[in-house]
Amino acid sequence: MSDIILETRHMTKAFKGFTAVNDVNLRVRRGSIHALIGPNGAGKTTCFNLLTKFLEPTRGEILFNGQDITREKPAQIARRGVIRSFQISAVFPHLTVLENVRVGLQRKLGTAYHFWRSESQLRQLHDKARELLAEVGLEGFADETTVNLPYGRKRALEIATTLAMDPELMLLDEPTQGMGHEDVDRVTQLIQKVSAGRTILMVEHNMNVVSSIAHTITVLQRGAVLAEGPYAEVSRNPAVMEAYMGQSDGELQGAH
Ligand SMILES: Nc1ncnc2c1ncn2[C@@H]1O[C@H](COP(=O)(O)OP(=O)(O)OP(=O)(O)O)[C@@H](O)[C@H]1O
Ligand SMILES: [Mg+2]
Repeated sequence: MSDIILETRHMTKAFKGFTAVNDVNLRVRRGSIHALIGPNGAGKTTCFNLLTKFLEPTRGEILFNGQDITREKPAQIARRGVIRSFQISAVFPHLTVLENVRVGLQRKLGTAYHFWRSESQLRQLHDKARELLAEVGLEGFADETTVNLPYGRKRALEIATTLAMDPELMLLDEPTQGMGHEDVDRVTQLIQKVSAGRTILMVEHNMNVVSSIAHTITVLQRGAVLAEGPYAEVSRNPAVMEAYMGQSDGELQGAH
């Protein structure tokens, strides 16, 4: 199997003549944590929406495991194992934490209706849900109503419901956004932990997070790739340093 799990070729998105993503050639290595960064308005979210099929590119191709998925729908790529982490709003607030993970597991099985007929299958589902909660450190919150969870724990639950879908490639959209220090550290460690045996592509603003866990960083600026490589290399790149000047969050080093 190829070393490259996800590739884009000349991926471009124009909105009424404004090119938000311009000729982007990404190569995401299997088993790696790959971060997409860049100043405000660089095209990160648009890129992400193209990769998760929320948007269709104006031009170019997207390949997953060597297969062209450019015209596929989000549900199709999910079946291939490309799973975007659900936004918090997609977690059912009035279900318990455990129930939310079970919903994720059922979604994966696609047998939500008759699955419940068999006691043993029900137990299996339950055990698997517990296992996933333990993986993200939420075993003590299993019976808590989701709405009552602290913010950082909700993001951990979101990761658990993503894991329930058995992703080969996990796409995380600013996983530490809006978090305090402790939660940032916890979720960063969690991402590193769940990356074992999977590939993770994430958009992330927090440079401490990026520098500590990302193997490869792609820097976007005005829709195009400005630099790519490990943090040590990219953070010393003069063009990258310049791109981050005048940003509200200042220099690349230690931003946020
Ligand atoms: N639906 C749209 N229609 C028109 N222009 C858009 C649309 N979506 C994004 N843009 C423009 O494309 C550019 C890139 O936006 P995008 O949201 O991808 O940037 P970003 O890197 O995610 O920025 P931020 O760090 O602020 O989240 C911006 O100039 C934005 O205004
Ligand atoms: Mg964005």
